[in-house]
Amino acid sequence: MKNIAIQSLGHYLPRRRLTNLELEKLVDTSDEWITTRTGIKERRIASIGEKTSDMATQAGKEALKRAKLTSDKIDLIIVATTTPDSNFPSMACLVQRALKAQHAAAFDVSAACSGFLYALTTAKQFLLSGMYKNALVIAADKFTNLLDWNDRSTCVLFGDGAGAVVLSGVRSSRGILSDYMFSKGQFADTMSVITEQREPLDQKNKMMKIPYVEMRGQELFKIAVNSMAEAVQIVAHKAKIKMSDISCVVPHQANDRIISAVARKLGVSKDKFFVNIHKYGNMSAAAIAVALYEAVEKGEIKSGDYVALVTFGAGLVAAANIVKW
Ligand code: ACO
Repeated sequence: MKNIAIQSLGHYLPRRRLTNLELEKLVDTSDEWITTRTGIKERRIASIGEKTSDMATQAGKEALKRAKLTSDKIDLIIVATTTPDSNFPSMACLVQRALKAQHAAAFDVSAACSGFLYALTTAKQFLLSGMYKNALVIAADKFTNLLDWNDRSTCVLFGDGAGAVVLSGVRSSRGILSDYMFSKGQFADTMSVITEQREPLDQKNKMMKIPYVEMRGQELFKIAVNSMAEAVQIVAHKAKIKMSDISCVVPHQANDRIISAVARKLGVSKDKFFVNIHKYGNMSAAAIAVALYEAVEKGEIKSGDYVALVTFGAGLVAAANIVKW
């Protein structure tokens, strides 16, 4: 075995679309503000009964089917999420049960929007060490559960969804060539979940105590641009490739302006960046997993291409990988 490679991808998106025009009726905002400041036109919203574990399971199921692998061949399941159904059992154990993957070790990773790449790199190490053979890595978030629907500065930004990959060893030069994970806890307060009382979207439960997200957007914006650009440079250097060798960059989808600024900072054409934020908003950990899925489906990533994956998120945490497809 030479490298660890992504063998297949899966995804899941809730049916319900919430458009900017609908949000105009909810808070003091406009389609024009949201579009020009973020690039988002609509996002998907999971229904009340649709849990993070359900979305994770659907994405995992598709990845397994595409890998032509039965669930009993999976010996590691990692789910990246910050919006689990409950504190425990882990989402990975619920996915294991749903998929009947009885031979797998299963656990969750919490690294906000960088969770998918943290989980990918973690799984890669287990496979490289020989401890496990086939890993199912899933990113799933029902982030809209954490939103204060009276706060226009956050409620317009996020959406729900899930993405998944099957990883295993290959004897070729393709695979995950380099990894980088970084954390800066000193910026923990720039985005966090507050647990005071607030009014939920469902006004029938008005007095419920529900956690919600608070964010210092402008500060995060700058840190995001710098840390994502730096992360891509580091993984390219580690993989011994030049920036010009990269055919496609799949970035975390938090704001189209952040993606443009990263492209400028790296001196890489924005055309090489895969963007789908207009359809889904920021799906937290799932955003990059779904973007990767769509980039491959649309033929924007082909066999032999060098692909850069890069994320940042609350924590603060950033991560990147170079993958030879
Ligand atoms: N509609 C209309 N006006 C709004 C809205 C809205 N939805 N939200 C804020 N505004 C107003 C503000 O009140 C402010 O008004 P003022 O000038 O009268 O004070 C004005 O718009 C500008 O606000 P800014 O915050 O300066 O707007 P900015 O251009 O910075 O855009 C944004 C805000 C989109 C949040 C941007 O800063 C951003 O994307 N930051 C990064 C956030 C991010 O990536 N978060 C995810 C982290 S990843 C994770 O772990 C989940």
